[in-house]
Amino acid sequence: MPATPLEVENLSAGYGPTRVLEGVSFSVPAGRRLAVLGRNGMGKTTLLATLAGQTRRYDGKIRIGSSDVTGLPSASRAHHGLGYVPQTRAIFPTLTVEENLFVGLKGRPKTALQEAYAMFPRLAERRRNLGSQLSGGEQQMLSTARTILGRPSILLLDEPLEGLAPVICEELMAAFSALAQTGDMTILLVEQRIQSALDFADQVIILERGRLAWSGTPEALAQDSEAVERFLGVGGLH
Ligand SMILES: Nc1ncnc2c1ncn2[C@@H]1O[C@H](COP(=O)(O)OP(=O)(O)O)[C@@H](O)[C@H]1O
Ligand SMILES: [Mg+2]
Repeated sequence: MPATPLEVENLSAGYGPTRVLEGVSFSVPAGRRLAVLGRNGMGKTTLLATLAGQTRRYDGKIRIGSSDVTGLPSASRAHHGLGYVPQTRAIFPTLTVEENLFVGLKGRPKTALQEAYAMFPRLAERRRNLGSQLSGGEQQMLSTARTILGRPSILLLDEPLEGLAPVICEELMAAFSALAQTGDMTILLVEQRIQSALDFADQVIILERGRLAWSGTPEALAQDSEAVERFLGVGGLH
């Protein structure tokens, strides 16, 4: 599937009676990269989960390309090209790496596993290890690779670098950049490592208490020390 644009209009969503997102609107052109920033608890995960159809939506619209997916259940959104790599790195601990990857094939031939191994050679080395035996970085690679095998046109990555050593972060970001270079995917990246996110993205949004507080380019954000301080709580970017 080629990359598709994503359009989010006036989205309000939450959990049961708890409203988290309020009136969030933004769009990402096909093949572009959006960084979603904001401090802890501001609604980043809720935004991605809502795009994936896993929260309660109160209002608003979500369009993938020309399809309005707003009313569709999670599985149908995947059919429309949405790939979600959750913050929890949902892998199967009692299955091997290879068996975890089989789950992502969705009817594609087993030879497609080579795509995952080319992206993350470490997974090829560990193909017979159980999910539970992997390091945090390897689990993230596995979780990402499994989603990629479904050839999503829109990829949602929720804090992929969380808790990982710098060298592994670099490896992951290089893999994400290589994916982005193919132009086959529109990518949304939630990250607390702000500089990594800004290096990667060509557009940024910041969430503050479930609302869109700022949007612009990474360059504009780097210049806007007031916004950085106010919304991200850091004294500056380096
Ligand atoms: N399953 C849930 N049920 C109720 N409230 C939740 C749930 N998950 C998250 N929240 C609340 O929603 C808000 C946003 O959380 P989240 O989207 O996880 O933020 P972030 O990813 O930016 O750290 C927080 O106040 C959090 O407590
Ligand atoms: Mg989160």
